[in-house]
Amino acid sequence: MDSILVKGNGPLNGTIPIAGAKNACLTLMPATLLSEEPLTLTNAPRLSDIKTMTALLQSLGAEVSSLQGGQVLALSSHDIYNQKADYDIVRKMRASILVLGPLLARFGHAVVSLPGGCAIGARPVDLHLRALEAMGAELELKDGYVHASAPGGLKGGTFEFPIVSVGATENALMAATLAKGTTVLKNAAREPEIVDLAHCLQKMGAQIEGEGTSTITIQGVDRLSGATHPVVTDRIELGTYMLAPAFTGGEVELLGGRIDLVGAFCEKLDAAGIEVTETKKGLKVARRGDRVKAVDVVTEPFPGFPTDLQAQMMALLCTAEGTSVLEEKIFENRFMHAPELIRMGANIEVHGGTATVHGVEHLRGAPVMATDLRASVSLILAGLAAEGETIVSRVYHLDRGYERVEEKLRACGAQIERIEG
Ligand code: UD1
Repeated sequence: MDSILVKGNGPLNGTIPIAGAKNACLTLMPATLLSEEPLTLTNAPRLSDIKTMTALLQSLGAEVSSLQGGQVLALSSHDIYNQKADYDIVRKMRASILVLGPLLARFGHAVVSLPGGCAIGARPVDLHLRALEAMGAELELKDGYVHASAPGGLKGGTFEFPIVSVGATENALMAATLAKGTTVLKNAAREPEIVDLAHCLQKMGAQIEGEGTSTITIQGVDRLSGATHPVVTDRIELGTYMLAPAFTGGEVELLGGRIDLVGAFCEKLDAAGIEVTETKKGLKVARRGDRVKAVDVVTEPFPGFPTDLQAQMMALLCTAEGTSVLEEKIFENRFMHAPELIRMGANIEVHGGTATVHGVEHLRGAPVMATDLRASVSLILAGLAAEGETIVSRVYHLDRGYERVEEKLRACGAQIERIEG
């Protein structure tokens, strides 16, 4: 298993290009199943999760070609011969459940393995299923699989999500495009990845209104066509690298960065003493003083502070002046990076969904273990500012969501290398 060696090495200066969003691409790819015509995605990120979704779609009979070094994905679902998503692939990645809505909508039946538990909480899929039931789907849970059918086709319905769910909104939105009649999704997720999916589906001929608000209305159509669509910028990769100069000092420009993708996050950066300015090509970030100031953070669905930036923000606040309180409201058990940061000298107390971080002057390098995707990058960022060497093991988590992380940080002067093993 590879690990990453980071040495604290002073300020970072330079530019970092931000890739297309992993989470958008993982929902745009299954949208191919809705049409027999080709779907081309540009600005795709090169990540292991994208390879997993590729393998899943191929197992159903889709053709997926990776062009231009993986930045363009050419997909065709002309010859789907299998509507069953096997446990062996689904267990690797929860987002696999996103094939359920499209398969059911186009073919009237689908069998999809239930995704297993996950390191950041129980993460059920009940809302995905209930939203499909509101469109007339008949569901049976058998041997770890969801058996879904809609013999006469899905029918439009109204569904109000009891809590905001990104994945369930995506599954329901895709399914509703081919349902007969009108579907209204209330308390829908408003994330930029949902808006991006809606825009792609609209290019394919779907009738959708209200994307980006909490009520999405979909008028079903008989068939969808092909389309070409660029994947929206990855706001989580953007936020992560915006933090790099906040840890180390210096000034870094994030190419392709947009304030509207990271509004709530930028407000917290400002309060912590980090300057963000818009440039022609993206965003420029620099720390105002020698040390950041403590801030309190509550994670919320978009447009609130994203849970996927909580670990990185906590790592930053470990060396802030004062005490910060971070409240995790989306996932239980998402503070597994805290014990690792404590190994580096941080002073953190965790009680349930709340972490209190008492700022210390410096972190010290240490061997630490990545426990999930965002936790792993938070340890790398901490290592950039720590005294001495940090070795982050189990970085396969990192490769699921960050492309060429060593290269991007090294280009700004970081001392970071991958140790293959
Ligand atoms: C997506 C993102 C993930 C991000 C999360 C929240 C992808 C591939 N992943 O995950 O990176 O951290 O949004 O922004 O896009 N829930 C239920 N029942 C369900 C579905 C969800 O109870 O059927 C709960 C979850 O356990 C969680 C909350 O709803 O507490 C929000 O989860 P959700 O928005 O669905 O997250 P994902 O779509 O899995």
